[in-house]
Formats: sequence, C-alpha cells, structure tokens
Amino acid sequence: MRNGGEIGIIGLAVMGQNLALNFARHGFRVCVYNRTPERTEGFLRDRVRDEPIIPAYTLEEFVRCLERPRRILLMVQAGSAVDQVIEALLPLLEPGDLVMDGGNSHYADTERRMQNLAAHGIRFLGVGISGGEKGALLGPSIMPGGSAEAYAMVEHMFIRIAAQSEEGPCCAYMGRGGAGHYVKMVHNAIEYAFMQGIAEAYDFMKTALGMPVEAIAETFERWNEGALNAFLTELAARVLRYRDPESGDPLVERIMDRAEQKGTGRWAAQSALELGVPAPTLTVAVIARTLSYFKTDRERIGAGFPWPDQRLGPFSEGVLADLEAALNLMLLAAFSQGLWLLHEASRVYSYGTDRAEVLRVWRAGCIIRARWLGFLREIVREDPEDPHLLFSARFRAELQQRLPAAGRVLRWAFEAGVPMPALSTAVDYVLSMRRSRLPANLIQAQRDAFGAHTYERIDRPGVFHTEWLD
Ligand code: 6PG
Repeated sequence: MRNGGEIGIIGLAVMGQNLALNFARHGFRVCVYNRTPERTEGFLRDRVRDEPIIPAYTLEEFVRCLERPRRILLMVQAGSAVDQVIEALLPLLEPGDLVMDGGNSHYADTERRMQNLAAHGIRFLGVGISGGEKGALLGPSIMPGGSAEAYAMVEHMFIRIAAQSEEGPCCAYMGRGGAGHYVKMVHNAIEYAFMQGIAEAYDFMKTALGMPVEAIAETFERWNEGALNAFLTELAARVLRYRDPESGDPLVERIMDRAEQKGTGRWAAQSALELGVPAPTLTVAVIARTLSYFKTDRERIGAGFPWPDQRLGPFSEGVLADLEAALNLMLLAAFSQGLWLLHEASRVYSYGTDRAEVLRVWRAGCIIRARWLGFLREIVREDPEDPHLLFSARFRAELQQRLPAAGRVLRWAFEAGVPMPALSTAVDYVLSMRRSRLPANLIQAQRDAFGAHTYERIDRPGVFHTEWLD
C-alpha cells in the first residue's frame, strides 16, 4: 500500500507517544493504536501537530493502516499485556510481518514469543529501549535482538530516531533470540548499581561528613566534570538542588526512603546466579532496594540498637577526593560484572552479542551513559573474546589506583555507621578477583568432612575423600 504507515505503535502511554512523535518527526508515517480510544484522542489533540501520525481505533483498522510487510512496535506494560496484544493481533497479521516489543520484558518471555510467532511466519524482535520519556522523544538508546533479517526491516528507522554520539547512532543489533532484552536487563542492573553507589556517596556526605544538601549537589556537579561524568551523576545534582515549592527545603529530604523496583534488576541477579557469574555489586543493589522497603522494621530495630553514628569531624577535600575515587571504582566493578554476565549469556544462549557494540549503544541516550564507556569499549575491543575487563592491564590500573581510597572510605563509613553495600561488594570483588588463592579450600574440606562431597588437591590430580573425623 502506498502512503500507508511505515511503522505502527500499539500503546500510547508516554513512552509510546514520544516514540511515535520521534519517528514522525524523522519523516516516518506512523499509525497508532491504544486500547482506550480516549488516550489516542488526547494524544492527537494535545501533542500531534503536523507530524504524519494516523490514528486507528480498532486493531483491524490499525493493521490495515500499515504498509506490508508490517512493522509493529508494542509499547505496552511488560508481562501478560504483551501476550494479550500479540494474541489479538495474530489473526490479523500475515507471514513476513514484524512485531517488536519495546518494553522491559524478560528475555525468556521474548524467546518464547519469538518461537510462537515464528510458527505463524511472523517475525519478532525484543527491543530494549532506554532513556526514559525524554530519550524516547529526542533520541533513545535502542537494543534490538532477534533474527538479523527482522532487524534489517527496521534498522534504517531505528538508526534515525536513536540518540547520536561521536561513535555513531545509539542503536545496533544485539544478537539472536532474547539478546535485546537481555542487554537491556544488564543495562538496568548497572543502572541499579550506579544509583545505589550514588545514594551511598550522598549518605556518606550527609551522615558521615555532615554536609548540607546544597554542598552535596555541588560535589556531584564537580564530579560530573571529571571521570564520573555521567547522566546519573548530573541527575543526582539536579535532583538534590530541587526545592520543595511548599517548604522551600530540598525535596529529596522529604521523600520516603523506600525504593521501588519493577523487576529488571532482580532478573539480572537471578540470571547471574543461574549462569554462575559472580555479580555481587549488581545483586546487592537489588537487595539494598528490597531492604530499604522495610522502613518500620528498620525504625524499630534502630531504636534498640545504639551505635555512635559519629561525624568524622572537620574533613579535608581529600576525603571527598577519596569518595569520588571510591564511586569510580564501584562503577567500574559494576560494568565489569555486567560485561562478564553478557559474555556468558551470549555464550550459553548463542546470542552472538558484540559487547563493543553494546558499549557504543550505551554511549548516549540511555540512563547509564557515562564518560567511562569510551574507555571500556577500547578495552573490550582489544580482545573481544576476553570475558573479563580485569584481564586488561589498563583496566586493572584504574582499579588499583582507586583501591586505597575506597578502603579508607569504607573504614570511615563504618565508624560513622553508614552502610555502603555497593562500594563494599565492589572492593570485595576486586580483592577476590586478584587473589590466586581464596579460602575456598577450607569450605571444600568441611563439605567433605560432613558430607563426603570430595575435593581436589593443588599438588596432584584426581578427586579425593578423607575420613576427617575418625
Ligand atoms: C531506562 C530505564 C527504564 C526504567 C527502569 C526503572 O533505561 O530508560 O531503565 O527502562 O525506568 O526500568 O526500573 P525500576 O522501576 O525497576 O527502577
């Protein structure tokens, strides 16, 4: 059909609306559909001006509105809603059509949907999209996964609407099967860790150093000029600067200290455990959110658990420099865990993910965009088959130079009663990964002693058992 929609979007919550506008402003004809017609009407009335956006009020109309083979992007809530929409669409589609899921779906669901649709000759892509509302409108980071042929149907469109960085458009093929959603899930796990690290630095400055919120904001602003330059560093400063219009106080201080989560961080931690990849910093960031949720329990326990909670007294700029170094170390550890996880997932699930491309796609548009990404990409490109950033001398040097500072921060934090789980696990991770000998020998001995689980020796090959208690 001539002049039909080049892409269709189902689901007009803010992300769907903004993506529709982004496609249309790049000259693509977009058909839109939402389950409730009021939202479609509101979108057209309030936000659409001259853009080539064509509304449809039934799925039949929507499907007719599109050029063939059709390209349909689902922007509905992850979970059963995706299955419901696919089920309703399926009888209306034809072989060769392409359905894409742009939500934060679980990679295993994506694989399942891909296989089900393939049986009907329908193509399917799991598309990680990052950047929030603004990103969707002005340039997101896009992580599509599935068959390369399916990706070829939309590549020219995604590349146009994606964020642009010095290293090219922030969209690339992430690999087969559920790779797109897997990569997005790892992105989110790093997002959780980075946010947790930032929150810990804020707590340290506030509780251990007694700094006012303004000064903390200023510190994040300064850090944003250096190695920690990143969207989340800048955002922390901006959020800390925001004042509650009613009270005039920093709004952040009036926000309930219970962090929500929608599941992607937890899935990453679960996947890491399943694949046997140690990702302590990513995992602890999820645990910290869960722990934060037990506000009343914490209040009750804290009331019966006195601790000095002492301020560190007058502090020098050196303390802040140490904290900055510690946060950098935490972030590098989180990236190294996330990239190891991606390497292993790509191997086990045969994704064929190119991690240098992942890092390039994360360079702009997404929530974890950061100055470090250019450096990390260089490291990965030096030897793309290395699972570890830690195999690189340049990467190790960045950690090594920051380790003493991170250790000092942890000691001060302990004195002041400030928990720093992300930083602690990052330091433990680095210390563990550099040890050729860990105390796991004693664990093996005990396992064998109480359960005859056997052990290996370092001085000769074989599997051994000892009657330890005779
Ligand atoms: C992004 C974000 C986005 C979403 C997170 C928040 O990349 O744009 O990651 O996808 O805001 O999923 O997740 P939580 O609600 O779990 O914090």
